[in-house]
Formats: sequence, structure tokens, C-alpha cells
Amino acid sequence: MAKKLKIESLPDLKEAARRNLKEATVFSKEDIVIPSRLKMLAQGKKYFVRTYGCQANVVDSENIEGILLEIGYTKVDDPLDADIVILNTCAVRENAEDKVFGEVGALKRLKNENPDALIAISGCMTQEPHIVEMIKKKYPQVDICFGTHNINRLPQLILRSIEQHIRIIEVFSKEGEVIEHIPTHREDRIKAFVNIMYGCNKFCTYCIVPYTRGKERSRKMEDILDECKKLVEEGYMEITLLGQNVNAYGQDLNLGYDFADLLEEVAKLGIPRLRFTTSHPWNFTDDMFKAIAKYPNIMPYIHLPLQSGSDEILRKMGRRYTQAEYLDLVRRLREIIPNVALSTDIIVGFPNESDEDFEETLKVVRQANYDSAFTFIYSPREGTPAAKMEDKISMDTKHERFNRLIKELTPSFEANAQKYVGKIVPVLVEGASKKDEGMLTGYSDTNKLINFKGDPKHVGKIVNVKITESHTFSLLGEEVDE
Ligand code: 5AD
Ligand code: SF4
Repeated sequence: MAKKLKIESLPDLKEAARRNLKEATVFSKEDIVIPSRLKMLAQGKKYFVRTYGCQANVVDSENIEGILLEIGYTKVDDPLDADIVILNTCAVRENAEDKVFGEVGALKRLKNENPDALIAISGCMTQEPHIVEMIKKKYPQVDICFGTHNINRLPQLILRSIEQHIRIIEVFSKEGEVIEHIPTHREDRIKAFVNIMYGCNKFCTYCIVPYTRGKERSRKMEDILDECKKLVEEGYMEITLLGQNVNAYGQDLNLGYDFADLLEEVAKLGIPRLRFTTSHPWNFTDDMFKAIAKYPNIMPYIHLPLQSGSDEILRKMGRRYTQAEYLDLVRRLREIIPNVALSTDIIVGFPNESDEDFEETLKVVRQANYDSAFTFIYSPREGTPAAKMEDKISMDTKHERFNRLIKELTPSFEANAQKYVGKIVPVLVEGASKKDEGMLTGYSDTNKLINFKGDPKHVGKIVNVKITESHTFSLLGEEVDE
């Protein structure tokens, strides 16, 4: 018998876009309670979680897994072996969404083999009204739909779906409290992500994230430091501080500290490597650059999204900086942190981007001397202002520009990589190389991927590697004693 659909709450983009910046963030420190009936039901049962998208989703999945383990599920590596499959989704571009629907389709097999199995969808996609409509109508195999703001409600949703034999949708548009005590399960024992803030208030006109992840809310410094301290004690080697715009950290708290202060305090805890992402050029201050330069354990690597080099397109994107301001920021950061490596995000094909606009992007690319870059073709996101803008540029032109952009970026990637040849660099060893089991792999302080011959006993340690060869996206080397 087909399951009944129970709608507890549906997402609403207008509601999600509302910002009351005067309203103080509310913090909850209550532990989540797992109903004992659910613990019984989950005995001997298995889970599989698939994560799409960015590191924010990776951390959310760690929380989802933490909750599932606390309920009593055990982890499996194949979704077809699972009693509950959770797809934690990304909405940032259309192709991310297409992949999820492909997987949901393929999961029909799971239901054929195990009719009691549950399929759940969470993450940024479920925060979009038109996606939830599609799930409701076209994907009856989806039992539970929850969003980015109510991960803590997962036990109740699973229990109700099983006991009442229903499909259930519960997605909140408003962010609600910052919940401090959600269980977490970190698979990686060497590197950890730590959220320092949630949400985004920037509302770049192309971007869905401010709608799917709500208002900018910083965690209190003491809570972040507590989490980082524990990671240091557990022997973690690297922490990456996470937020959509880490440079805006603390602005909503009014407690007299900002991102530069936070960086210093975390660095002082003695974590061997400290990283952070993502930065927004708008909120970067020289004090932040100085903190990075001052502490050797803050890695000299900055991801600084450009998006476009054209002032006109930047204005239409709502980025609030000009090409000259961006380049000045790059000049200052290179002055204060001379060994810094720089990466970026660039979008081509924003509505009505002209050839001249695109040339301006290439101009910045030639000057900024990037070490790496993520490049995207603009993807209209329903509900964002840019999706309503007139766009006369053909898809062919966008693809041509995309290819040209990569061509223009490659020489600086290669030249920057080439500079390492013959040098000895510190590498945090992560494990065997994916391509060659006989080689080890890890990252330099500047975030260069390095494959090298070395001692497998050194996994989890920082070793010196002499670089022998450079490629566009990786370096080759061998471990040395020095
Ligand atoms: N289309 C293409 N790329 C996008 N990004 C965000 N929204 C879109 C969109 N609608 C890119 C930006 C951002 C990165 C995470 O994804 O470059 O920095
Ligand atoms: Fe995807 Fe952006 Fe959401 Fe991360 S924040 S999951 S990249 S849409």
C-alpha cells in the first residue's frame, strides 16, 4: 500500500530571504534525545549517507552520521545494503541537482529488494520549494525530507516514518537556534572541519545559499575553541575553520571579537595546521592577513573567490567590490604574506556577460597569479534575482569562454607548481596515493597536492618532501630526512 504523505512544513524562499539583523542568535546546548522505541527499531540496522557539495555539507553529514550511530545504526559502504539511505544534497548548480535525482531514481532498486528500507533527502536542495514539489509528485520512493535547519529532528522523523508508515516532509525556512550539542562522527583522524558560522547575508544575485542556509550566525568563540581543543587532544593535525564568509565571523555577535581574533586564538591552541574557508573579499582586513603571517601554523593559503573581473558584472552580481579593489586586496595580501598561495572561484556566462566583460575576467586572471581555481558556467537558480535577468548569451559562447578561461589559468598553475621543483616542502601525509599504492599522498602548507615516495609509517605526520617534478595540479617528490 502506498504510504500517506504527511507535510509538517514546507520551505518558502521569501521567508528564507527575510533577515532581522537585530534579532540575536539563540544558542541551544541541550543534548538531543533519542527515543528508546527508535533505538529498538534500529537494532541490527544499517545506514548509508551520501554527501554532495561543499564542506558545509560534509560537516552536516558528520552530524547526520553521529545521530544515526547514536540511534544504533551501523555504517555500510553500499547503499543497496542499507536500511536507511540519506542523500545530503547541494543546490548550488543544476548539475549537482541532476546527480541527486539520478541517484534517487537508481535507489528504486533498494526498495524492490528491501521494501522496509527508508530513503531520506536533506541539505540545500530540500530548502527549495520547487524541488520538494518534485519529490512529492515524482519520487514516491523518498520517505523523509528534511532541511539544513532541522538535522537535530532526524530521530523523530525516522521514528514517525517507520511507526506511522508515512512519507514525511519537514523543512524549516527560518534558521532557528544554533545547536551546539549535535553528535558527530568524523571519519578522518588527521584533518577536521569546524564550523565557525552558519548561513550567509551577502545575497549575491546568482546564489541560492543565503536562502538554503539562512541568516549569518556565528558560533561563540569559547564553543569553537572547546571543539578545537578536543581535536588537538585527540591528535588531529589539521583544522579547517568553515563558514560561507569566514571574514564576517563575529559581526552578528557584537562581543568585541572578529575573525582575526579567532584565528589567533585557535592558532595558539597548537594545532599543527590551521586553515579556513571561504573568504569574501569584502570583509577581509589587513589584521586578518597579519594574523596569518604571524602564526606559522596558520597555512599560507587563501581561497579568494573572484567570480568575475568585470565591474559591471560584479555590480550585477552584488559582489560589492570592483576589479581594482580585488587586485589591491591581492597585492596587500601578497605583501603581508609573501609565500601565500591563492585560489579562486570564477563564474562565466553570467546573464548578458559581454565579450568585454569576459576579457576583464581574463585580465584579473593574468595579474592575480592563481595557484588553482574552480571554474563554473553560470547556472540559473530559481528564486534568485539573476534567474530573472535577461540573458542573450548562447550556451555555445559560454562553453567557449569556459574553455578559454581554463587555457588562460593553466600557465599560472603550471608556473607556480614549477617553482617547487628542487625545493623541500612540509607535507601532511594522508595515506597511500589513489593512483599508485606504492606512493604516499598529502598536501603542502600551500595546499599543493603532492605524491611522493616515503615511509608509510609516517601517515598522519608532517614530513619533508623534496619535489622532483611538477604537473598542473600536483607535484611529485620523495621524502627526505632534513
Ligand atoms: N552558477 C554557477 N556557479 C555558482 N556558484 C554559486 N552559485 C552559482 C551559480 N548559480 C559558484 C560560485 C561560488 C561557488 C561555491 O559556486 O563561484 O563561489
Ligand atoms: Fe551546496 Fe552551497 Fe549548500 Fe554547500 S552551501 S551544500 S555548496 S548549495
